[in-house]
Amino acid sequence: MAHTITIEYTTKKKQQPHVNQLGFGKYFTDHMFIMDYDTEKGWYDPRIVPYQPILMDPASKVFHYGQTVFEGLKAYKTADERILLFRPDKNMKRLNKSNDRLSIPAIDEELALEALKQLILTDQDWIPEAVGTSLYVRPFVIATESCLGVAPSRQYKFMIILSPVGSYYAEGINPVSIHVESEYVRAVAGGVGNAKTAGNYAAGLKAQEGATDLGYAQVLWLDGVHRKYIEEVGSMNVFFRINDTVVTPMINGSILEGITRATVIELLQHWNIPVEERRISIEELVEAQHNGSLKEAFGTGTAAVISPIGSLHYQDEKLVLGDGITGELSKKIYDAVTGIQNGVLPDTYGWTI
Ligand code: COI
Repeated sequence: MAHTITIEYTTKKKQQPHVNQLGFGKYFTDHMFIMDYDTEKGWYDPRIVPYQPILMDPASKVFHYGQTVFEGLKAYKTADERILLFRPDKNMKRLNKSNDRLSIPAIDEELALEALKQLILTDQDWIPEAVGTSLYVRPFVIATESCLGVAPSRQYKFMIILSPVGSYYAEGINPVSIHVESEYVRAVAGGVGNAKTAGNYAAGLKAQEGATDLGYAQVLWLDGVHRKYIEEVGSMNVFFRINDTVVTPMINGSILEGITRATVIELLQHWNIPVEERRISIEELVEAQHNGSLKEAFGTGTAAVISPIGSLHYQDEKLVLGDGITGELSKKIYDAVTGIQNGVLPDTYGWTI
């Protein structure tokens, strides 16, 4: 690692929000990390500075062509005042995978991790300690060259910002109702669905809005080619318990390789619960519901960790899962993952640092 990270401390600390006000991603800490790139110098000048707006040329490529990627992870403070990060090396690897797909130059993963740690240490008094809260860490890259030609930018900024958060959904770990989306699709293999890039989220808003209007919390995405295989739920990966086997859509080029997804699969394997990564169609789910074998379903992601699905609405049918309450396995996984993340349970897997 060739670079030293410089720190400029703020002279005006912000008033911190009350824990009840947190919500998700509404408040930001006193400092942020920035590093610049240009084709001559490579990545240069890694620095922690007071949190502040950045000046951008209106012609910056990110505004026009969406050349940008992001990551998300959480820091927790334990009862004995240690600060834990959950598998952050996986986020840094995925960041570079997304960078590669968006023609953004790779970032030194060790330097990015060091930047992340130093920034969190600088703002450690912002890590909330109440149950269910954490410090959400948002690394991201934007293309800053001011030029309207459609070509990879010659300049970028890599930044990290921090936000104290409560539950992602107001419902917490309570089950949500899901609308099976049949008009719009999220992504197709060969596109950018497996990269963590802004366009995927922008493309999902229209369906999300439609679902909200109909009174549902999220959409279940079907594949873009056959319009029948399950892909994701909202911005999360999705799992189904059919009898005693857990099934999740296999990685296929359009699904994001979630870190919580990988964690859940590893946990289930460790618990000797059969888990299958394969194609699963909406018809198979409807059939499983009809014959009573569909027991539970839940989404997985960094923000909400586990989000149980209470009901699925497909065409004119309403499939109520379990009794519409959080399933036994969903709860067990939630407790295990969050327990390891916040240091309440011993981490026998070596996932936390
Ligand atoms: C997730 O962590 O589940 C996400 O997809 C993050 C979201 C806030 C974009």
